[in-house]
Amino acid sequence: MLDPTRIRADFPILTRTVYGKPLVYLDNAATAQKPRVVLEALSEFYTRHNANVHRGVHALGDEATELFEEARRTVAGFLNARDPREVVFVRNTTEAINLVAFAWGMKAVGAGDEIWTSAIEHHSNYVPWLRLAAARGARVRQFPMDAEQALPLTALDQLTPRARLVALVHVSNAFGTVHPVAEVAAAAHAVGATVLIDGAQSAPHLPVDVQALGCDFFAFSGHKLGGPMGIGVLWGRLELLEAMDPFLSGGSMIDTVTYEEATWAPPPYRFEAGTPNVADAVGLAAAIRYLEAIGREAIRTHERDLVVYGLERLAAEPGIHVFGPRDPDRHGGILSFTMDGVHPHDLATILDQEGIAIRAGHHCCQPAMRALGLSGTARASVFLYNTREEIDQLVAALARAREVFALA
Ligand SMILES: Cc1ncc(COP(=O)(O)O)c(C=O)c1O
Repeated sequence: MLDPTRIRADFPILTRTVYGKPLVYLDNAATAQKPRVVLEALSEFYTRHNANVHRGVHALGDEATELFEEARRTVAGFLNARDPREVVFVRNTTEAINLVAFAWGMKAVGAGDEIWTSAIEHHSNYVPWLRLAAARGARVRQFPMDAEQALPLTALDQLTPRARLVALVHVSNAFGTVHPVAEVAAAAHAVGATVLIDGAQSAPHLPVDVQALGCDFFAFSGHKLGGPMGIGVLWGRLELLEAMDPFLSGGSMIDTVTYEEATWAPPPYRFEAGTPNVADAVGLAAAIRYLEAIGREAIRTHERDLVVYGLERLAAEPGIHVFGPRDPDRHGGILSFTMDGVHPHDLATILDQEGIAIRAGHHCCQPAMRALGLSGTARASVFLYNTREEIDQLVAALARAREVFALA
């Protein structure tokens, strides 16, 4: 069992106060706090090893290159990738998806093709496909959502050989829904479609095995799993990456360049133009090693307990409506809810006064909010350092908010 009290000691920021009250950080879906080992890895890199990579004819260059490539191997292990060459460092999930939309989509998607998504995607997993579809004469379509903002498996019957891509969020940042990726990937492959998974909210919280999931691309952001901001990962099956043209071009991604033309380096370097974010890749690897040492199953079990507890406590509160699947196996670490008569932003402001950080709004999921007739929801999202006591504090603060709005 994971001991959150011991874990909290690894996160310096969790000792601070906000408005004189202890910080209760429940905005982990937006970004997670960083353990000391990550802060130290960044400092150590810049203090002792800083140099540019892959061009070293000196000791520091070799050290920096080795640390960067070691980070790539760490990510490959974290995802159970077959080969570290399948790991491309990018800035974040958004950039990873844009990379696929441009470098894969401009070649693979044509007029009349269909790109399928769910009804609850983050804008990062709609907008690049809308732009690609407009450029290529293709169409973006959505599977419906059920009454618990989940995807009914019968929806997969709509896939036909016109489907070129199924792009799906693994865990919804807006409702906590865990999508049945392996089933979706099998159905997509059966009609010849490629599968991209937005793992922004799953990589930090669930054990992820890209081979078991059966996807073709998987994207995540380092900052949501305790790594630095500005580093993310696109994992892609090597055969697909090898067939793709570059996204950004310039230095470091070429094989040869003449005045007339250029040829490309093999993956992953083909997709890493310019000086990469070496320090933050090293910091990401430190975050991954930290999570792995605690155990990803243990993290999932702990967060699942918090979600079961949170869903139960919220459901017992008058005027609170909770979103997402009630089955905890299909619900990630996100508690998304509304309170009758109180705008989610007002709720978040009142909670902030109590030192409780949550997020309120459409969570970059405008289409789903519109479909549900909501301006937004309040969202408390947990990570390995959160506790049942913090859920109690959240619920107690909601009762106070009701008093402020004279709803009690
Ligand atoms: C499900 C999901 N996809 C994509 C993103 C985009 O992540 P980033 O802003 O790190 O690119 C987020 C961020 O909140 C997310 O929750």
